[in-house]
Amino acid sequence: MEKHARIQEESIAKRPAGSLPRIGVIGAGRAGLSLAAALARAGWPLAGVANRNADSTKEAAFLLECPPAKDGAELAGRAEALIIGTPDDAVESVAGGLAESGVVGPAHTLLHLSGAHGPETLAAASRKGAAVGCLHPLRSFPRRDPGIRLAGTFFSLQGDDRALSLGRWMVESVEGTVLEFPAGSGAAERALYHAGAVAASNFTVCMLNLAADLWAAAGLKGQAADEALLELAGGTLENIPRVGFRGALTGPFARGDLDTIRRHLAALDDLRVSTSAPEDQGAGPAGCSSPAGSSGPGGTSRFTGSSGSTGSASETPGYLRSNRLARLYACLAWLALGVAMERGREPGRLAPITAPATGSSLSTAETPASPPNPPVAAGALAPEKAAAVMEVLFAVLGEGEEQAFKSGDETPMGKGSSS
Ligand SMILES: NC(=O)c1ccc[n+]([C@@H]2O[C@H](COP(=O)([O-])OP(=O)(O)OC[C@H]3O[C@@H](n4cnc5c(N)ncnc54)[C@H](OP(=O)(O)O)[C@@H]3O)[C@@H](O)[C@H]2O)c1
Repeated sequence: MEKHARIQEESIAKRPAGSLPRIGVIGAGRAGLSLAAALARAGWPLAGVANRNADSTKEAAFLLECPPAKDGAELAGRAEALIIGTPDDAVESVAGGLAESGVVGPAHTLLHLSGAHGPETLAAASRKGAAVGCLHPLRSFPRRDPGIRLAGTFFSLQGDDRALSLGRWMVESVEGTVLEFPAGSGAAERALYHAGAVAASNFTVCMLNLAADLWAAAGLKGQAADEALLELAGGTLENIPRVGFRGALTGPFARGDLDTIRRHLAALDDLRVSTSAPEDQGAGPAGCSSPAGSSGPGGTSRFTGSSGSTGSASETPGYLRSNRLARLYACLAWLALGVAMERGREPGRLAPITAPATGSSLSTAETPASPPNPPVAAGALAPEKAAAVMEVLFAVLGEGEEQAFKSGDETPMGKGSSS
């Protein structure tokens, strides 16, 4: 936190006394429009916006209360700071086009919003003398929302000095925090970073949709069901700052309740068999023909539109009719076993998970000398129970993974490690 505060002080010190740079937005979609609106509210002048389609450009210009532009080249003539909010795959060609047409140069700073790509994606503009960087908001923008508040949002930022300076300034303006990459981070680290962001945000959505679909298959649906799931998930998220990611694991895997896990797997298998359409059975990727099974109209669930089917083939989402769900159970077992093995490293001295003293860093702390923090229920799974959990799962997953595990090539603690 200290570091972030220092960065912000530096950026305040570098702030020119005169006017703010004018911003042009190339690709004002969900992220670009929401960020531009937040910057405009913070006082940044918007020179204009250019999307791919004219109608979309007009709508964005209306929402942002700024002039539309024919294209990025026109915007470059009006703005010093260009935010590229196109889909990831278009960023390089947009920057390449600007560079080729000779409209960007040393007076410009280009920032793209992609989490997956680094500043090198804007190399063509950099060669023309423009400053380049990437400013990735760690926030999910489900729609173009000019009213969204970004206070508290983390932004990863990479780029050359001028781009870093501008990015820090923007982040500060919207009351966000810069998340720094370690020195020497390259494309591989960037991709892992983005995969992690996808896991935190998109997998959360995926898991809650799965939960809603399972409940719908059990006949539990509608507002009360949705609220119950959100309350459960919200409570779990609230636990994490106090007990750590791994310490927040509860449930049958953390307890080693094998019979419960077997019941789940059997019920999933029953659902698969009882709802498989004839063409799903036999060879091939069974049951994966309908990825959007829960999104049909007319349902009573507030969020999923799910119909509360109790198992008809036409209404049960295709992925519930495959056996892939067992793999999610394997991930859970892997986590539970990893937690158990960590604890097992210090027999008789299971570390309580303590609340971090300051900040939001999460850790599994050593047992404190004095005063002792009270241990919280951290889901410690006895190693022998965890191994039994894995046995159940090997039966589902097949021989390859069982062999890898038993040979010690793969363990929940990492390749070849042991407790
Ligand atoms: N959405 C999020 O939650 C989120 C969060 C963090 C970062 N990001 C990043 O933000 C970027 C945009 O994502 P998004 O979800 O906002 O996408 P989006 O809603 O699909 O918006 C993309 C925008 O780019 C425009 N566009 C596409 N190709 C273009 C081109 N060649 N020239 C000019 N404009 C072009 C589109 O114009 P039309 O409207 O005319 O099609 C659209 O307005 C991505 O790099 C993404 O990784 C997104």
